[in-house]
Amino acid sequence: MSAEQEKITSSKSGVRPVMPNLSIRPMELKDLDAVVALEQEVFPDPWSKDSFQHELSGNECSSLFVALDGERVIGYSVHWCFDIEAHISNFAVDNNYRRQFIGSFLLGYIISDILRKKIYKIYLEVRSANEAAKNLYLRHGFEIDGTRPGYYIKDKDDAILMSLTLKEGL
Ligand SMILES: CC(C)(COP(=O)(O)OP(=O)(O)OC[C@H]1O[C@@H](n2cnc3c(N)ncnc32)[C@H](O)[C@@H]1OP(=O)(O)O)[C@@H](O)C(=O)NCCC(=O)NCCS
Repeated sequence: MSAEQEKITSSKSGVRPVMPNLSIRPMELKDLDAVVALEQEVFPDPWSKDSFQHELSGNECSSLFVALDGERVIGYSVHWCFDIEAHISNFAVDNNYRRQFIGSFLLGYIISDILRKKIYKIYLEVRSANEAAKNLYLRHGFEIDGTRPGYYIKDKDDAILMSLTLKEGL
């Protein structure tokens, strides 16, 4: 792999390569079936296809991205940008592609998108038992702000509220 091909990202243990065919682009209608299939595999309370379609076409605050291995959708994200704050509302990586820094790469991409809009505060909620997501966000500088008991209606799981404060020029 040439140096140009090698996408790199930092980790506590140094610098690690990310898959050579990895790319990120805005989600399109043609991605919806693959995104919804992943969503149903990953979450106990998945968003419907209609919900994604609404975010894509009917919500001007919403930004949606897909991570691709070549043409294959292996991750996706949804975030909302308001005047002075952003909210990450959906985020997942295909189970077969985890622990390869895809989530970190996608999260970095989202943070850059939010910074470009001159927004410096990002909020999100994560299930209390979701150690993978909590660790991912903590590694990227998010802090835990508190807990919202019974936030997830279906199984009454608690939500951990997290936020990241960005600085201009990062
Ligand atoms: C959370 C998720 C997006 C992480 O994606 P990923 O591509 O595997 O994450 P990365 O490879 O970039 O991991 C970065 C860091 O996150 C943490 N992490 C990721 N998966 C972890 C796991 N299973 N257990 C503990 N920590 C984990 C680690 O600190 C990891 O760094 P390390 O590999 O050097 O230890 C993925 O597990 C996922 O899609 N989970 C289901 C959906 C979900 O929970 N979405 C978030 C909703 S808020």
